[in-house]
Amino acid sequence: MLKTIDFYYFSPTGGTKKAGEVLAFEIAEVVNEVNLAEKGVNNPGSDVVVVAAPVFGGRIPTIVSEKIAKFNGEGKKAITAVVYGVRAYEDALLELNDVMKKSGFEVIASAALVAQHSIVNEVGAGRPDKADIAEIKQFAKHILSTIKEGKTGIVTVPGNRPYKDRMKVSATPISLSTCGDCGYCASICPSEAILNTSGEMITDVNKCIMCMACVAKCPTNSRILPPNIQDGMTQKLAAFKDIQRENEFFFEQVIL
Ligand SMILES: Cc1cc2nc3c(=O)[nH]c(=O)nc-3n(C[C@H](O)[C@H](O)[C@H](O)COP(=O)(O)O)c2cc1C
Repeated sequence: MLKTIDFYYFSPTGGTKKAGEVLAFEIAEVVNEVNLAEKGVNNPGSDVVVVAAPVFGGRIPTIVSEKIAKFNGEGKKAITAVVYGVRAYEDALLELNDVMKKSGFEVIASAALVAQHSIVNEVGAGRPDKADIAEIKQFAKHILSTIKEGKTGIVTVPGNRPYKDRMKVSATPISLSTCGDCGYCASICPSEAILNTSGEMITDVNKCIMCMACVAKCPTNSRILPPNIQDGMTQKLAAFKDIQRENEFFFEQVIL
């Protein structure tokens, strides 16, 4: 095991953090967890970093790419993971690796991991499960051995350039009448889209990324997607409820 590792993540509803933590804690004794949604994130201090991002519309959220673009990787080794809700990860892993490399990191291994869908929770329900966790731990062991052996190489992951267009957010979560105006949703919103205006939570559609953090974390379960949007998503993703999607792992190709 390594002594310390920095673990960078963005995880509005917890799935990305959960999967990424399994990886990071299997690689190093001490894991320095850094939430990319927080302001003023510093350059990594450890020699190896783990970065995990959720897949939104087949891409990584701009919050993640903008933050990574500010880092100076200084040739440090990076393990990247995108976490997605069964449908598809499309260009997200390629995009994550591209921004990491552009910031000076050497990506030595990557993964596309499956988690519960944060909009339609029945899709991928319970994932990452026991079997996923065992696979992620195995992946970590392989990474540790490649680091120990000092292998160099490049990781090739699926995806296309130019990346697919970003999904457009045309509606935001709303507050039900049970909302007690505590303002917790506004305090945790990663895009500062929710304003507590005269005791009413107003959500700015131009800022909201529909990440579902406010819906998942409201202490009184008073945040929901507008029912027509939720129903539309549930229908769109219905076919994925019965799909057992596998995690995918990508290692470096050794250059001889
Ligand atoms: C706005 C939005 C877009 C999403 N787009 C996709 C997608 O394109 N493909 C997919 O399989 N899952 C998609 N998901 C599901 C998430 O990738 C998945 O639930 C992930 O685990 C969420 O991370 P979190 O639990 O850390 O918030 C999307 C979720 C949201 C909220």
